[in-house]
Amino acid sequence: MVSLEKITWDNWEACINLRVKDEQKPFIASNVYSLAQSYVALLNDRQPPLTYAICLGRTVIGFAMAYRETARESRFGESSYVICRFMIDKDYQGRGYGKMAFAILLDKIKACPLGSADAIYVAYNRSNEAARALYAGFGFKETGVVSCGEMIARLPLDCKSTRVRSIRRAYRTYTREHQHNGPV
Ligand SMILES: CC(C)(COP(=O)(O)OP(=O)(O)OC[C@H]1O[C@@H](n2cnc3c(N)ncnc32)[C@H](O)[C@@H]1OP(=O)(O)O)[C@@H](O)C(=O)NCCC(=O)NCCS
Repeated sequence: MVSLEKITWDNWEACINLRVKDEQKPFIASNVYSLAQSYVALLNDRQPPLTYAICLGRTVIGFAMAYRETARESRFGESSYVICRFMIDKDYQGRGYGKMAFAILLDKIKACPLGSADAIYVAYNRSNEAARALYAGFGFKETGVVSCGEMIARLPLDCKSTRVRSIRRAYRTYTREHQHNGPV
């Protein structure tokens, strides 16, 4: 069964050891880079990043990372969740695990754990046909905006139907799932 788990002392090295195919390397930063980036975000940003190990049973097969930005921070002028990393190890690709994991990631974001937002954004290299097809399958529409060679696609997000109480509950669940010692 595919699940998204918080990064722990038990799985962080497995995340770092995941690899994409050689031809996919230009499409995504290494997981060691992403984990370093999430550490800096954790110490400096107002909200923690959402980082997950993608697991098949007890085996780590992928990695996902997202964050929330305010309308002021967003180049599109709307509060949003941005999925900045999503990968499945080369030995596990093409078996439907990416689709399953992405559906779980979207469910987590749709619970608005870091507060409400109007949209979810994802960016991908224009020659990354697998990513384009994966995201389009979930309803992401290309914005036409290209940043650093990457097409930005958008999915509307309706957090308004999520009552504030449930957003708070979702955030509590999220922080419990992602308990850490906090910035020192
Ligand atoms: C993109 C990626 C996560 C897909 O993971 P995966 O486990 O191989 O994907 P799945 O087997 O679940 O397939 C899901 C969908 O992706 C698309 N897809 C996957 N491989 C594809 C390929 N080689 N060509 C075209 N579409 C492909 C299809 O739409 C597929 O749905 P379908 O089978 O119903 O047609 C994986 O290829 C990957 O990690 N790539 C390298 C990192 C990367 O590019 N990440 C995205 C950065 S934005």
